[in-house]
Amino acid sequence: MNILLLGAPGAGKGTQAELLQKRHGWTWLSTGDMLRRLAGEMTSDKPHIERLCDIMAEGRLIPDYLMVMLLEEEFKRSCYEDGFILDGFPRTEVQVEHLTELLKKKGKSLDAVILLSVDKQAVLARIEGRRFCPECRAGYHLTTQPPKKEGVCDKCKTALTQREDDTAKTLTRRLEVFRIQTEPILPYYRKKKNILTEISGTQSVKQVSADIEKAIETMKKQKKEEK
Ligand code: AP5
Ligand code: MG
Repeated sequence: MNILLLGAPGAGKGTQAELLQKRHGWTWLSTGDMLRRLAGEMTSDKPHIERLCDIMAEGRLIPDYLMVMLLEEEFKRSCYEDGFILDGFPRTEVQVEHLTELLKKKGKSLDAVILLSVDKQAVLARIEGRRFCPECRAGYHLTTQPPKKEGVCDKCKTALTQREDDTAKTLTRRLEVFRIQTEPILPYYRKKKNILTEISGTQSVKQVSADIEKAIETMKKQKKEEK
């Protein structure tokens, strides 16, 4: 299955994508993680990467042309052939057009679009408490998903860190960017027959995951019936 996870910052896209990957083996592509990996390669001879880091730290979007280029390059890898989970792309109407075209060229399409809805208050608590492992990228939360040993990754024992854009001020900007630039893509997926399911992301991780699995099963059934 090819799944698209949509939702505001902190809605739980990454958390749920990781669970889907573990359960089904589909390849998880987080464009945010991809950009943070690129940012980690910053050196003085790569000034464009510094610009990219500034944009992310300010909570704005990376220009479409660059995102489209990165996505096209990434999709050349064979790991996307047997199912994928897109997290963080598309985020603008231009990106929707490019994704649709790219998939079409490859003879593919999205099987399910899951929209995780959350309110601003829930997101703020999540973002301020979020920590991640810079080495293996495992995600944690200080109160809801703490590591076994404070400040240390359970999996690879690396010191946990906080994302530069996980501050209350930047979050306000990111939520605004989501409202202005990303919400306008929703009507496109709503109009497509039986593809979008909206799930409350304010429930427990387990319940959100169960709802996603249910939605995926429904989509699978519909697909079979259409054949
Ligand atoms: P990106 O990394 O995609 O960030 P985002 O969309 O702001 O979303 P987050 O990663 O913050 O939240 P999430 O929904 O993944 O939540 P998570 O599961 O981690 O993008 C970062 C930046 O990169 C952008 O601002 C932009 O600059 C750039 N960028 C990326 N893609 C781009 C594109 N296509 N075009 C242009 N620019 C792009 O959960 C959050 C926390 O809550 C965690 O601590 C988790 O443990 C906890 N949590 C999750 N679910 C629950 C639950 N149900 N109950 C309680 N806690 C929960
Ligand atoms: Mg994420």
